[in-house]
Amino acid sequence: MQNTKIVMARRPVGEPDDSCFSTVHEEVPELEEGQILIKVIWLSLDPYMRGRMNDVKSYAKPLQPGDVMPGESAGVVLQSRSARFVPGDHVTIHQGWQSVIVSDDTDPRLMKVDLANGTLSAHLGVVGMPGRTAYFGLQELGKPQAGETLVVAAASGAVGSVVGQMAKLLGLHVVGIAGGADKCRYVKEELGFDECLDYREGNLASALAAACPRGIDIYFENVGGDVTRAVGPLLNKGARVPICGYVSNYNDDDISKSALPFQILKDLPEVPEHRFFLVSEWFERWPEATRQLGQWVKEGRLKYRESVGEGLEKAPEYFRGLLRGRNFGKQLVKVADE
Ligand SMILES: NC(=O)c1ccc[n+]([C@@H]2O[C@H](COP(=O)([O-])OP(=O)(O)OC[C@H]3O[C@@H](n4cnc5c(N)ncnc54)[C@H](OP(=O)(O)O)[C@@H]3O)[C@@H](O)[C@H]2O)c1
Repeated sequence: MQNTKIVMARRPVGEPDDSCFSTVHEEVPELEEGQILIKVIWLSLDPYMRGRMNDVKSYAKPLQPGDVMPGESAGVVLQSRSARFVPGDHVTIHQGWQSVIVSDDTDPRLMKVDLANGTLSAHLGVVGMPGRTAYFGLQELGKPQAGETLVVAAASGAVGSVVGQMAKLLGLHVVGIAGGADKCRYVKEELGFDECLDYREGNLASALAAACPRGIDIYFENVGGDVTRAVGPLLNKGARVPICGYVSNYNDDDISKSALPFQILKDLPEVPEHRFFLVSEWFERWPEATRQLGQWVKEGRLKYRESVGEGLEKAPEYFRGLLRGRNFGKQLVKVADE
């Protein structure tokens, strides 16, 4: 059996073009005791992958040329020499852009999927890593209170859509920010946010001021840059800013020289409570989040969209699209049929 994998061929400066990736085909080795063989069906594309391509100090080791692109995928066990898995089991695993994965059954990032909580692909999105990020980031760092005002950008995306809908369930006034009229309409009409503003149109600062008459109590930071600059002056005393990411900076030529949200927030006359967080801080509680998110989906209280790209070889193209906002909902690549 052949595995296809996509490796980082060279480090990008700015947007990663095709020369930054190469496709490698290799023979899949025989299983050893305690291993399983997984056929990948879905690959998740996530903004953080761009950061891993830089040679800068971060929470994770930078990729080296020749390393497989990182990422989580969902698939089905084809063969097992493990007592814990049988062929047919559905799993998620974090072993990068590959079509077939051989894994030790002790890999901490190999997880059995319970389809009662959602579809296989949803385990990479709304009930998976991005959903959990919203769940913990909002509750633990946002500390939401009914009646408060929350603003979140990339509002139609995997994380932002869950943040805003959860905040609505908790009784907050919720304002989304998204790129383009279609995304804004979806966020307001389908997801039920109170308002959604198109940051590419008109004056975001004045539109935000009008949409947030009582100021902003929680700004869930997904994008950074000009959006953070527009939000900053409207933050109330005691505001909280969970810093989840800053996707507008990820393709900067040299991110170490960029004005990141930490800097923009520290320059405000009243500095809000803020810190960067990783979803893995609550690793022990992931099953709780998946169950709760899955329950809300089943009850129709949490909606989601997926942007499905076809074919592992095209992952670089979809990845570039994600960092330009071409995705509409969770970006997935369909690697094989279920
Ligand atoms: N800390 C953690 O543990 C953790 C875990 C998961 C994700 N994250 C972070 O959460 C954020 C959202 O990730 P996601 O997976 O949910 O992705 P996503 O929102 O589904 O997709 C990325 C979105 O970012 C927006 N975007 C891209 N370039 C932009 C720019 N220059 N300015 C403003 N917006 C831009 C686009 O939406 P628009 O078209 O609406 O602009 C795009 O659709 C990212 O910052 C990511 O790094 C953090």
